[in-house]
Amino acid sequence: MSIRLKINGEDRVYHGDPRDSLLTVLRRDLRLTGAKDVCGEGFCGACMVIENGTAVPACLRPVGLLEDAEITTIEGLSPLSEPSPLQAAFARHDVVQCGMCFPGMVMTLTSLLAENPSPDRTEVKAALVGNLCRCTGYERIVDAVMSLQEQEHAQ
Ligand code: FES
Ligand code: FES
Repeated sequence: MSIRLKINGEDRVYHGDPRDSLLTVLRRDLRLTGAKDVCGEGFCGACMVIENGTAVPACLRPVGLLEDAEITTIEGLSPLSEPSPLQAAFARHDVVQCGMCFPGMVMTLTSLLAENPSPDRTEVKAALVGNLCRCTGYERIVDAVMSLQEQEHAQ
């Protein structure tokens, strides 16, 4: 079976088992390893990607359901040399510890900010309900997101 989809702006055709998860296809076949394989069951959010504008856990998306989907992974967000404003805010607030959860956090929050550029703290926390971090405090993550608005107001 062939499935056509767009990944990070590039047209791709997947020839294989349509039951394979998008996470497997990204990591095993395309070597896009930014989305992390942690729980594999939709609980932790480490594998979040953006599918047609919405953050979804790639481990729960069989590739057979993704005909014509547009997928963005963390590799497609910005070049390594030029982190997105959100990624830069995470770095400034020194929120990353082991880093396992952070690609997923960035994808969830990127999707939130595209929909709602000025979320309040409650909205940021609600968006992160499906992203688990076992290392760090969530408050600094929220601080980093809120700093983007402060930065904008200061300009
Ligand atoms: S690896 Fe997909 S939600 Fe945990
Ligand atoms: S920084 Fe280690 S799981 Fe979040």
